[in-house]
Order: sequence, then C-alpha cells, then structure tokens
Amino acid sequence: MTSPAAVIILAAGEGTRMKSGTPKVLHQICGRSLVGHVVAVSESVGADRVVVVLGHQRDQVAAHLAATFPDVVTTVQEQQNGTGHAVRVTLQQLDEQGAAPAGGPVVVVSGDSPLLSTATLEMLLAEHRSAGAAVTVLSAVLPDPTGYGRIVRDDAGLVAGIVEHKDATHAERAIHEVNSSMYVFDAAFLADGVQRLTTDNAQGEEYLTDLVGVARDSGRVVAALAAPDPDDTLGVNDRAQLAQAEAIMRQRINLRWMADGVTMRDPATTYIDVSVDLEPDCVLEPGTILRGATNVATGAVIGPDSTLIDTIVGAGARVNRVHSELADIGPGASVGPFTFLRPAAELCEGAKAGSFVEIKNAVVGRDAKVPHLTYVGDADIGAGANIGASTVFVNYDGVHKARTTVGREARVGSDTMLVAPVTVGDGAYTAAGSVITEDVPPGALAVARGRQRNVAGWVVANRAGTPSAEAAAAAQEEGNDEH
Ligand code: UD1
Ligand code: CA
Repeated sequence: MTSPAAVIILAAGEGTRMKSGTPKVLHQICGRSLVGHVVAVSESVGADRVVVVLGHQRDQVAAHLAATFPDVVTTVQEQQNGTGHAVRVTLQQLDEQGAAPAGGPVVVVSGDSPLLSTATLEMLLAEHRSAGAAVTVLSAVLPDPTGYGRIVRDDAGLVAGIVEHKDATHAERAIHEVNSSMYVFDAAFLADGVQRLTTDNAQGEEYLTDLVGVARDSGRVVAALAAPDPDDTLGVNDRAQLAQAEAIMRQRINLRWMADGVTMRDPATTYIDVSVDLEPDCVLEPGTILRGATNVATGAVIGPDSTLIDTIVGAGARVNRVHSELADIGPGASVGPFTFLRPAAELCEGAKAGSFVEIKNAVVGRDAKVPHLTYVGDADIGAGANIGASTVFVNYDGVHKARTTVGREARVGSDTMLVAPVTVGDGAYTAAGSVITEDVPPGALAVARGRQRNVAGWVVANRAGTPSAEAAAAAQEEGNDEH
C-alpha cells in the first residue's frame, strides 16, 4: 500500500444542527473526539502529514488537537466558501510553509465522519493506485440518499460527475449511490484542479466535488469505490447522528474484543472506550463501562454494573458493582459490591475492599482486607492487615490532609477512628470503638474509649409502663425464680 503524502481533514464548518457551544468535531464518541477518530485513522495508514482545516471556533479545536495529537498541522479557512475552497486555501497555506505535498496520494476527508475505518481507507488508497486515477471517491449506496451529492455514472458505468442534492435534477435525485466526501487525489492534479473551481452552483460555493468533472474533462481517470460497510461514511450533523455513530462504533469495539477472546455476557450494555486495553479471557458482566486508559488482565471478572475510569485491573481480580477512577487493582484482588475507588487507590495482590468502602490515595497491602463500611484516605495498610467494619481514616483536620500507617498483620477493631497522622505498628490491635490519636507500638492493644458502667434497675425506675420496663421486670422475676 502507498501511504498518503497528506490527509486533509475538513473541519471549518459551523455544525449548527448540533445546537452546541462545543464545536461539532469536539463532541466525543467512545472516549475520543469526532476529529480525533479521523486523525487516528489518518495516522494509522501512515500519512506523512495530517492537516486539519479550522474555521468556526478554531481556537478550541486547535487547543484540543495540540493536546491530543501534537503532530497534526492546522490551517485556517476564514470564510466557509465550500469544500473546494477549504482545500484550495489549505494547499496555499501549506505551500507558504513549504509543506505542500509534492507528489503521491492526498486524502481528503471530513472531520465529522468518525466511522471511517483503517481497512476501508486502505482499500480506497489501493483502488486509487491500481486505477491510476486522478481522483478516487468513496461512495455509499444508501436507502435514503436525500441531501447527499449523487454519483452520476455514464453508460459504461464510469463516474461522470457528482451532483449536489440542491443542484440535482429529478432523475439524478433518484440515484442512491452518494458521495461520502472521502477522496484520494493525485497531489499534482489536486493542486491544479482547485484553481479551476467556480461558484456557479445553487450554493454559490467552490465545490470539491466538481474536481470529478475537471478530471473527466482533461481525460484523467476517475475511480469510485463503494464502501463495503456504508456505516463507514456516516457523517455526524446532529445529536441523533452522534448517538447513531456511537452505537455503531461501540458495537465494532465489542465485536473486536470478543474476537480477541474477551467474554461479554451482554454486549448491548457493555461500553468500552477506544483507548481501553483488555487481555483474553477476561469476563465483562452486563452494565460494564470501561473508560480512558483502563486495562483489564486475563481472568479478571468485571461487573455487573461497574464503571472503571483509567483503572488497572490485574489478572484474576474480581470487581463487582464498583465505581473506580485512576485506581490500581492488583492480581487476585476482590472489590465490591458497592465500592468507590478514587484516584491513587492501590490494592496489592489478593487485597480486598468490600461493601460501602471508599478508598483514596492509599495502598492496601498484599492480602490485606477492608471488608465493610469504611473510609480509607491517605494511608498505607500493611500486608495481611484487617480493618474492622466502620473504621474511618480521619485524614482531614479541616485545613490539612495527613497520612496514616497500619502495619502488617495489624487488626484494627470495628468502628476505630484513626486520627492522622498516626501509626499502628506491625501486628498491633485496636479495640472496637477506639479513637486512636497516638501511635500504637508493634504488638500492642490500643484501647481508647470510655469504660462501660451499668446502672442497675434504671429502666423499671424511669420508664415504667413501657414494653421495655415489662420485659425488664419479667427477666428479673425469672432470675428470682431460679434462685
Ligand atoms: C458534502 C459533499 C456531498 C457529500 C456530503 C457527504 C460537497 C460540495 N458536497 O456536502 O457531495 O454527499 O458532503 O456528507 O463537497 N467544510 C469546510 N469548509 C467549507 C465547507 C465545508 O471545512 O467551506 C467542511 C465541513 O466542516 C464538513 C465538510 O467540509 O466537515 C463537509 O461540509 P458540509 O457542508 O457538511 O458538506 P455537505 O453539504 O454535507
Ligand atoms: Ca455534511
């Protein structure tokens, strides 16, 4: 395959139908912006240069590209005088920078068409090369072609031209083969051709599509490839198409992971960003949402109903009804149900975080357990330690955060308050209900609570006539009878 000398991505249009303060091409599907998907596919075919044409809200789009795809070059089309105009001003600006493609294939695509696949783009490039074409158009046969430019073919079946919907005759509007607005051009033909465009049409714009007629008139070959999957050509103009594009991409992602050996019990409720990585033989239960840089190792079982954002899951871990962000779950660890892991929560191998446990910026050591109803913030918990139910790592004095250390094989009693900064030594215990404000030496038992005092007969004396008082009196009778 010949790699393109350049890919030019048109993204200057306004995107009015999105009704959004966010530029259209910055809306996301499956964890990446629309234009980001187009850039990624352009880079995947080895383009020497990827150029994005900016116009409306260009500062926002430029900042996004600089942050996510720093190798991308941008040009500016101040006034949106049509797709042909966009390419013409782009080539002019590249030329001024000495960066115009000198030869070879140049791809032109729209920034709002995120479903173009690498395989389809490679086919289009191969078709262009084998046909020796000046221009090769990716077409699609659609049940409803309304609004699209139509591919007009001659009696021999060769592409004679592209007619925009607004310029088409009744007979031409009956054609179902449409222009996807994705093309490969010969660089020299493109540079010359965009100088010849007129605005003699219904919209008074320089149409890129007119280059097909230009090629024909000069005896050059025009090729067209019907997209094997018409979904590849879907353009996003409104929120309904945004949702449609996301549904299609999500299904493609899910099918790819299943082909790679991931078990997905219900693909219809499984949501995986493009940036996620999964190993074979992990299992995703219904309602699993994997976002960002999440990685799941083999044998791990995720879900049901779990959202993992930028989270690493080790081999064989169990993650059940969990919300997790920027956390690291070690091999064989067990999390959930109903657990909240916040940034820098790290569970070592075999560790456990159970129901109604929240963990932030803390290491839970190898095989250590935080089984129930506990907040762990800013802590280091040693290997094999056990944290009793309802323990709170009291990490915040209202102004500053401080850290707590719990030694290995320590046993923190239920309802302990560990007031940071504080250390519980290796093998130490704390008594249930203790408020620990001072370090506990290794192996010691810390008791930090009021002593119990029983006031005999208080209920009968002070709550006469209540069921409690009756029960108390009856118990006393029985006690007397036994004597
Ligand atoms: C275009 C094609 C049409 C095709 C359709 C597919 C032309 C003349 N028509 O029509 O044949 O069926 O796409 O979706 O090319 N843009 C600019 N600058 C401009 C105008 C547009 O950057 O001056 C960008 C837009 O942001 C968009 C893309 O080019 O990303 C397509 O523009 P749009 O106005 O949507 O073209 P259509 O009328 O849909
Ligand atoms: Ca469009």
